[in-house]
Amino acid sequence: VITKVKARQILDSRGIPTVEVDLHTNKGVFRASVPSGDSSGMYEAVELRDGDKGVYLGNGVAKAVKNINDKISEALVGMDPTLQSQIDQAMIDLDKTEKKGELGANAILAVSIAACKAGAAEKEVPLYRHIADLYGKVSPMLPVPAFTVISGGKHAGNNLAIQEIMILPTGANRFVEALQMGTETYHHLKAVITEKYGTHDCNVGESGGFAPNVSSFREALDLVKEAIRRAGYTDKIQIALDVAATNFCIGTKYDLDFKSPQKLGQNFLSAEDMVELYRELCNDFPIVSIEDPFDKEDWEHIKRFSSTGICQVVGDDLLMSNAKRIERAILEYACNALLLKINQVGTVTEVIEVVKQAKEAHWGVVTSHRCGETIDSFIADLSVGLSVGQIKAGAPCRGERLEKYIQLLRIEEELGDQAVYCGVDWKQ
Ligand code: PGA
Ligand code: ZN
Repeated sequence: VITKVKARQILDSRGIPTVEVDLHTNKGVFRASVPSGDSSGMYEAVELRDGDKGVYLGNGVAKAVKNINDKISEALVGMDPTLQSQIDQAMIDLDKTEKKGELGANAILAVSIAACKAGAAEKEVPLYRHIADLYGKVSPMLPVPAFTVISGGKHAGNNLAIQEIMILPTGANRFVEALQMGTETYHHLKAVITEKYGTHDCNVGESGGFAPNVSSFREALDLVKEAIRRAGYTDKIQIALDVAATNFCIGTKYDLDFKSPQKLGQNFLSAEDMVELYRELCNDFPIVSIEDPFDKEDWEHIKRFSSTGICQVVGDDLLMSNAKRIERAILEYACNALLLKINQVGTVTEVIEVVKQAKEAHWGVVTSHRCGETIDSFIADLSVGLSVGQIKAGAPCRGERLEKYIQLLRIEEELGDQAVYCGVDWKQ
């Protein structure tokens, strides 16, 4: 049984406060912490921040920590940690608001994850196995990783509008091989960038991708294509984009120079131009997935683009991992994959529900990190246990990103002959 729940304020990878919790049971102490991102919207669960500008510039999470130490702890002590849905429901009932704004989704999720880890220990099974049981299926699978290799958008200080260019080693036979392929390509990319622009363009963005000062999507993609070629993985590594287009949509236009105020207005594209650009890029590069190709409220163009069937279309800001937005997108054929950000949902039980919802619609599911990460590797086990097929957790560098990929390595090692890597079946 749960004997104690104790939280504290820690810092995420950006140096911004977040919540860490220790959940005590008779089996030990189970620790979890929650990530946080740049994009946020009105449909996602509420991250509770103190707002006192004199402390951590208003970003403190002392209230969320106190809510765990007082109210949540009192409600959960004595409960069986294997009963995930009852634990999550107890916190939802205590919160009473639709978006978890009272206790804070950051408080609730931290406890929910810690309880899940405690539940696995109680059953004496690996975490991914416990998650598979909660989902109600039994065949864990290792996902294809989408390694961020170029960062832009709000995640880096270069001029590139697009937020992330990722590489997917779909041609690997095992996860360990995928990690090697992705990492070798990452290092080749560093050399390609250094030769062309010099070492200062090898600085990295928030999730570890290089941030060269390229002026177009095509210029960035050429670098990645060359790196894949030099690494010897042409046809074995595919490319995915997270355009995060909401960040540079102004009215009905897209400002590709949104980070250079002096050039404002000179590089605008209409949504129609963007459709054409994506078409050309998918033709010239091995792009298999595009996330948020249009503004989050531009349902018309995302539908039009999805209907071309050129590649997987992932909804991140479009969906905000919100069940109602996902339902609308399914009905309107707006996209065909969910970007799963667990802190936008708030509990493990509800995370499982939205994954079921997406899978029933035959969508792809990409388990995702946030730009502000911690060393918690829960999403690695989650991606295996729910057998989602895809995970994006940043570059193959920087501790908070690697912890997810390394946990996948450990899981593959533990599964031994039973391990299945999604590979070319990444779309599930
Ligand atoms: P965020 O970015 O964590 O800054 O929201 C991640 C993403 O857009 O996929
Ligand atoms: Zn995104």
